Amino acid sequence: MPGGTGGAGGAARRVLDEARIIELPKIVDLRGNLTVVESSRHVPFEIRRVYYLYDVPAGESRGGHAHRELEQFLVAASGSFDVVLDDGSSRKTVTLNRPYLGLYLPRLIWRELVNFSSGSVCLVLASLPYDEADYFRDYDEFRTTVAR
Ligand code: TYD
Repeated sequence: MPGGTGGAGGAARRVLDEARIIELPKIVDLRGNLTVVESSRHVPFEIRRVYYLYDVPAGESRGGHAHRELEQFLVAASGSFDVVLDDGSSRKTVTLNRPYLGLYLPRLIWRELVNFSSGSVCLVLASLPYDEADYFRDYDEFRTTVAR
């Protein structure tokens, strides 16, 4: 029913659709390229924290959680990896393999980072300081909460 209450395949906006690739400015230079990220301009939030994942052993995965409030922006600053996204009802996989392309993640998305290439670096820009209480680390608890 158009304009109905949504449900599986309905008109309701999916959180997963808000997760999107954002192309960053790339300043090409024979001396080497440069990409810039400004808070609240190139990413849709104020950047309050930066961290990065590196030296990820072959076959390892990171993530495996969701956040209640935190928004994040992931960049493959070097190399590549895949991000498996899940909003409790749908799933999609995004590959990051360019340092000028980032993945914006709104709150309430379960994510897993897999298939890290050798020497890859995952740069993460975050909207809030670290807070363990903001994490869902149990998938069933996450699903139950977002289904409400
Ligand atoms: P976690 O977020 O689970 O890592 P990932 O999702 O990248 O696999 O964090 C791993 C550990 O690092 C955990 O013990 C908490 C700690 N940590 C901090 O102390 N500060 C931070 O900003 C982050 C992201 C993690």
